[in-house]
Amino acid sequence: QPVGLSADHLLRQLDEGLPAGEIPAALFGNEDVYRHELRSVFGRCWVFLAHESEIEARGDYVLRKIGEDNFVVVRDEEGGINVLFDACRHRGVQVCRADSGNTSHFRCPYHGWTYNTKGDLVGAPLWRNAFGGMSKEGNGLVPAAKVASYHGLVFATLDPSAPPLAEYLGGMTWYLDLVFGLNAEGVEVLGPPQRFVIDANWKSGADNFSGDDYHLGTLHRSVWEIGAFPVPFRENMLGYHIQASPGHSLSFSMAPTEDEPGPKFFGYPEELTKTFDTSRISAHQLDVARRSRVFVGNVFPNFSILALPMTEDGANHPPTGILTIRTWQPKGPGQVEVWNWFCAYKNMTPEQKDRAYKAGLGTFSMGGSFEMDDTEPWITVSRTGRSVAAEVLDFKLNYQMGMPGIGIAKRVEEWPGPGIVYWTRYEEGVQRNLFSFYSRMMQAAPGQWPDFTFDDE
Ligand code: FES
Ligand code: FE
Repeated sequence: QPVGLSADHLLRQLDEGLPAGEIPAALFGNEDVYRHELRSVFGRCWVFLAHESEIEARGDYVLRKIGEDNFVVVRDEEGGINVLFDACRHRGVQVCRADSGNTSHFRCPYHGWTYNTKGDLVGAPLWRNAFGGMSKEGNGLVPAAKVASYHGLVFATLDPSAPPLAEYLGGMTWYLDLVFGLNAEGVEVLGPPQRFVIDANWKSGADNFSGDDYHLGTLHRSVWEIGAFPVPFRENMLGYHIQASPGHSLSFSMAPTEDEPGPKFFGYPEELTKTFDTSRISAHQLDVARRSRVFVGNVFPNFSILALPMTEDGANHPPTGILTIRTWQPKGPGQVEVWNWFCAYKNMTPEQKDRAYKAGLGTFSMGGSFEMDDTEPWITVSRTGRSVAAEVLDFKLNYQMGMPGIGIAKRVEEWPGPGIVYWTRYEEGVQRNLFSFYSRMMQAAPGQWPDFTFDDE
């Protein structure tokens, strides 16, 4: 007998509360909600799996997750990328037993069915005796419904009715361009992802990276005190909050004018930023990147991006640009595994890459100063979310910052890029956008993709 409120009930509360900036806390801990998310969100949306630079050579593979399910992301002999459900077609045994590697075939450990890097069944022990006469075709590893890359970021979806990736990303492509397409060379990852488990709900990460800049002055105050971040807190609240398209939100810390002193291009060194050009992006995009100190954003549901100037030790190293990409992998209503990659522009020198990696490790990683600050409060959000008190008291969370008549944030009409844009980052429309699309995905009929327009359009 299930205990607690049903997902249906909580989603109704969400729909009723969202226009007033209220979200039921139980969404961050409810079991039934979580089971629905695995099916309706992770079972349908485009989910980030890997960066192409992780599987550069033919036969390179990494083992990744969509929701809680394992998928092999593998480069085949022709150079194509396949995303294969890691389950043998004979009895469903897990076929791929390493996190990453290079191989020509995957051989199931149970009876030895063997698949190539396209997932085709190519043989099994004692084939003639056991299966002579049976077709190998149609008995291969099952692929994801769709696979696509954007700037080397590999996504897949299990839903054949999902729109093409570029359409799903919508306005977010304009903003991904100005981080990942700043020069002709592009971006690579620096090694395998770091992984760590937190007793928190995956949505706390997505919520935070959608543009929770307001927490910096309180939670991360000590990080300023050691000089890890070169923009003063109040000045860092200047910038834009952008609902790039339904579900996908981001935030820029930006100087009010072009010639303001302070970091440009997320704090990357000038020798590198000289190579940033319009070979892949527009002059408008280049201009926005130039003025940006911080880019933080989330692609629905659980892929986050952060670029900013950082140092692990302000006394000994000046801040430098770092770029981290991460996923919030659900492991239950009260547990998330963070997968965290550091990226670098391919044309950075080995010293620049090393510097960016160390600055990243010291701040946004398992033992990093920022990360450790963030994880503790998120643990208590999920504790609140699964509490009896939250249920019986009908406990709502306040997401009203920047709503009409509240605070100083103002809608911006003059802006070169797509989306709904606000000036100053005292604003939580970016998070309401996340939860508004979340609600639509959670309630969409199977096979039918939810409406892709903004509420106020
Ligand atoms: Fe894989 Fe039998 S389960 S070969
Ligand atoms: Fe934080």
